[in-house]
Amino acid sequence: MNRRTFAMQASAWLLAAGAAPDAWPFFRKKKKQQPAPAPAAPALNSVVGTASLRAHGLLAALPVGCAVVPEILDLEGARAGKTSDPYTQTVLDQAGILVAENAMKWSALRPTPAGYDFAASDRLFDFAHVGGQLVRGHNLCWHEQLPAWFASVATPENAASLLTQHIQRVAGRYAGRVQSWDVVNEAVHPPDGRPDGLRNSPWLRLLGPGYIELAFRTAAQADPQARLTYNDYDIELDTPDQEVKRGQVLLLLRRLHARGIPVGAVGIQSHLQATGPQPGAGLVQFIREVASMGMEVYITEMDVNTHALPGDAAAQDDAVALVYDRYLRLVLPEPNVKACLTWGITDAHTWLNQTPKPWAERPDGTRQRPLPFDDHYQPVKAFYSMRDAIDAARAATTRNAVAAPTAPQQQPFVPFAVPGSPSSPH
Ligand code: XIL
Repeated sequence: MNRRTFAMQASAWLLAAGAAPDAWPFFRKKKKQQPAPAPAAPALNSVVGTASLRAHGLLAALPVGCAVVPEILDLEGARAGKTSDPYTQTVLDQAGILVAENAMKWSALRPTPAGYDFAASDRLFDFAHVGGQLVRGHNLCWHEQLPAWFASVATPENAASLLTQHIQRVAGRYAGRVQSWDVVNEAVHPPDGRPDGLRNSPWLRLLGPGYIELAFRTAAQADPQARLTYNDYDIELDTPDQEVKRGQVLLLLRRLHARGIPVGAVGIQSHLQATGPQPGAGLVQFIREVASMGMEVYITEMDVNTHALPGDAAAQDDAVALVYDRYLRLVLPEPNVKACLTWGITDAHTWLNQTPKPWAERPDGTRQRPLPFDDHYQPVKAFYSMRDAIDAARAATTRNAVAAPTAPQQQPFVPFAVPGSPSSPH
């Protein structure tokens, strides 16, 4: 009997005698004793890979993702297939679609009237390429976060070319790589008192209501593949104010649709509150009206604000999770709802913890917990609410049954000469 057969035979005896393998002298390793590995957080194990939001979204034909800060994403680590940065890892694990929280706004892209800075937005596209993620563009025309120079430089004479050249340059740069563009953001504001409900924004003052159409037509030329989106907030509730605003948004969409303007989707921002009235049947009705024009709907900026909710972290988590649950079970079963993004992925990076305003700050000074992952990148109850609602919608809805955009009622979209641009005959 050689040494090896003896060891095998002896092991069998010992096993039969009930001795634990550790006690077997023959196979004991000479290696230095390793400390026991710290047990992996069981919660995290159960939320990555096929258990992630992005994977569940994929099964439901629903891109699910979040707003990100491209400057702090570990692009190099993502490229190398290993990052030690929890923010980057969570975005890679959970998001199938990304949007820049600020990096693609005018103020970020245009430090000077003639100079563009694409560093952060290029980084976002590079990252999404590595992560196999779709990208939403946010945004091409908005009344906020305009560069400091804008007020003194823009005039009624040059505003059209400022707008169209911006859209041509920015949407043109990323053409073919954008799932959808927020072409016009927050253009409706009934308190401004106009019969058409439009906001008295710098763009409206400079160009009149036609700026909206100009923006969409220019974007369609610059990136014919992106779904062009109108994005707005405070249209989720069935309260009198929000019903008025939602009605004005719908009228705007109908006007644009009737004129053949290529609006392909509506973004419902979905900055919700943990306290007070919650969304209901009026919102579903709105989503169906939008569907009847062949437009998709995206949940573009979801989070749940707890500034007015008393109680500790656990109480916040329960309330926030309930809002996610109710809201997503209300809207995701609608088959034209075709993407769902939260405004951030972790409480460590949310505007609600960065904005020193009464509508964001909790009176007790504690941090808000509005997102699916907490400050320490642990999933909270809202994560499970989201995932379960995505699954429920998957079972209830055939999402790819949505028809292509319907033919506009009047003349089709005609290629558009941009006034004041070099290519314009005018
Ligand atoms: C917010 C960002 O989250 C903040 O960091 C920034 O200071 C202000 O803008 N509606 C929108 C977003 O369309 O662009 C806003 O993002 C939130 C409200």
